[in-house]
Amino acid sequence: MTQEPLGQDTGAPLPEWAPPEIDRTKAHPARIYDYLLGGKDNFDVDRDAAEVALAAMPELRAMARANRAFLGRAVRHLAESGITQFLDIGTGIPGPGNTGEIARAVQPGARVVYVDYDPIVSAHSRALLSAADPALSAVVQADVREPKTILDSGAVQSVLDFEQPIAVLMVAVLHFVSEAEDAHSIARYFIDAVAPGSALVVSHASEGHEAGKFGAAREGWNNATSQLVLRDRSEIGRFFEGTELLDPGVVIIPAWRPDREPSAEDLALDYGHAGVGIKR
Ligand SMILES: C[S@@+](CC[C@H](N)C(=O)[O-])C[C@H]1O[C@@H](n2cnc3c(N)ncnc32)[C@H](O)[C@@H]1O
Repeated sequence: MTQEPLGQDTGAPLPEWAPPEIDRTKAHPARIYDYLLGGKDNFDVDRDAAEVALAAMPELRAMARANRAFLGRAVRHLAESGITQFLDIGTGIPGPGNTGEIARAVQPGARVVYVDYDPIVSAHSRALLSAADPALSAVVQADVREPKTILDSGAVQSVLDFEQPIAVLMVAVLHFVSEAEDAHSIARYFIDAVAPGSALVVSHASEGHEAGKFGAAREGWNNATSQLVLRDRSEIGRFFEGTELLDPGVVIIPAWRPDREPSAEDLALDYGHAGVGIKR
């Protein structure tokens, strides 16, 4: 189901479906990302934040697209490897090529739970799923920093079978969790909770070849609900402790099992790393 876009922030009432707790005074990562991807579900405050970031780092749009494409490749690969359950944490506003769509193109009975702390994302995800089989998908509005709450939620417990492998997706979300908030323990909590054969999929922002560029772009997030934390390849690699990394390991995002030979331009998008690990 396609929803009426939020449109311009003219102070007009929100569309009927929009949850009342939507905050139009602070930029939200999901809405900034939506704007970068060319979506319409964002407000002035999000667009302003994105434009500040884009002024410092024009590659940000291409990075957002490269990240979405990685998500698609990873989900497709895992579905082709036989995984039929997906816990997508930090889902983002679902668009074409969302996790369920990609997984079910390969595994028609795939079960997917979408988790995000942003009410806009939950509203969109619920609308998208309204026609879907409730036994196969669910939406949970929750914070990745509270992994126990996520795993104990009725929706997660009723849709996912923890005796069978589950792909835990934390794609472009862990960089919103600081060291003080124990980002690495959070990833480990999910790995410890799932059965052998399960997968962890992570992509994460990093300092790229032009040092300081992402740092400057990050100013755009300064007033957003979550700040962006950059981590280097080895820090991102540590998220996979307790798993065995699939080839090619933790690499820059466009280089993870690309569908075609990456161009020099693709390879210059080195402002983030990604990997997929399997729990043995
Ligand atoms: C950059 S988007 C990534 C969306 C999607 N995973 C993708 O890669 O295309 C980040 C998402 O993480 C969500 N997010 C940020 N911090 C979060 C938190 N603490 N708990 C849950 N979701 C969070 C945002 O609301 C946003 O939807």
